[in-house]
Amino acid sequence: AASAAVKHFLDLDLLPADELRALMELSKDLKSRRHAVAVEKPFAGKVLAMVFDQPSTRTRISFDVAMRQLGGETIMLTGAEMQLGRGETIADTARVLSRYVDAIMIRILDHDALAELAEHATVPVINGLTRNSHPCQIMADVMTFEEHKGPIQGRTVAWTGDANNVLASWVHAAQRFDFALNIATPPELSPRPALINWAHQNSARVTFGHDAEAAVDGADCVVTDTWVSMGDAEYERRHNLLRPYQVNGALMRRAAPDAIFMHCLPAHRGEEVTDEVMDGPQSVVFDEAENRLHAQKGILAWCLEGAAA
Ligand code: CP
Ligand code: NVA
Repeated sequence: AASAAVKHFLDLDLLPADELRALMELSKDLKSRRHAVAVEKPFAGKVLAMVFDQPSTRTRISFDVAMRQLGGETIMLTGAEMQLGRGETIADTARVLSRYVDAIMIRILDHDALAELAEHATVPVINGLTRNSHPCQIMADVMTFEEHKGPIQGRTVAWTGDANNVLASWVHAAQRFDFALNIATPPELSPRPALINWAHQNSARVTFGHDAEAAVDGADCVVTDTWVSMGDAEYERRHNLLRPYQVNGALMRRAAPDAIFMHCLPAHRGEEVTDEVMDGPQSVVFDEAENRLHAQKGILAWCLEGAAA
C-alpha cells in the first residue's frame, strides 16, 4: 500500500498529460531560478543512488550535478560491482536500496528489470534508459523545443532513422504534449507493434512511414539518433538499411526554413548526421544536452515531492 503512493518516473505513457506538463513547467522554473535554488538547497539530506549497467556521459553527469547543485548527494554504482552481479534478485536489491537512499536512477537494457525494481522499491525509481525507452531525454527535448520555438502543442516533429528507445519516448510525448510526429524508419527496423498500437489506440498524431523526405517536409524540428544503440548487434546490416535516413544538409532543407535539429547524443558524425548539420545554425544539440540537467532537476523534485517546492 505504501508503494502505491511512490512517484516513479518510468515512462511518459504511465503519466497523465497534465502531470507531465506540470513537471515540464517545474523544470523550466528550476532552470530560470537556478542560482536562487542552488542557495536554497532543496535536496539537502537527500541521496540518489545511480545504477549504470551501460555506459553514460550525459545521464550520469547531469543527474550527479543536479543533485549536488540542489544540495543532495549521489552514490554511483554498476550492476557488476553490486551483489546483483552475483545473482541477488532485483526485487531484494530494490528492498535494500529503499532502506538507504531517497531515490534510485537506473540504466539497464532489460525494461522488465526496471519495472521489477520499481514494483519492489519503496522510494522513487527513475528510468535512465532501457532498451524500450528514454523518458528523461524527451523531457529535456520538449523543453529545448519550447525554448527555441514556443509551445510544442500543434507543431510538427520529424524523426528519421532507427526505431529505438528514444523514438518510443517521442511517440509517448507526441500524445501527451499534443504535437504531430512524422516517423521514417526502414521497413526492416520499424517500431514494435505494441508501440504502433498504443499510438493508434490513444489517437496520437503520429505517422509511421519509411520515406525520410516525406517525414521531414515542412517540419519544425528534425530528430535522429544513432544507427546502433547499446545492446544492438548487426552493425553492418543496420548501417546499410539506415544510410538513406541520414540527416544531411539536403534533407534539412526540406524542413521549415527555421526548423531546429535535435539529437540526444552521442552522435556518430558522418553516419546518422553530417558535420554540416551538427555544427550548423539549426542545430540545438548542446542546448539539448544542457537541458538534461534542468529537466532532471524537475524530475527529481517531482519524485522527492515537496523537496524543491
Ligand atoms: N543522451 C544520453 O542519454 O547520453 P548518455 O548515454 O551519455 O547518458
Ligand atoms: N539510442 C541510444 C541512445 C543513447 C543515449 C542507445 O540506446 O544507445
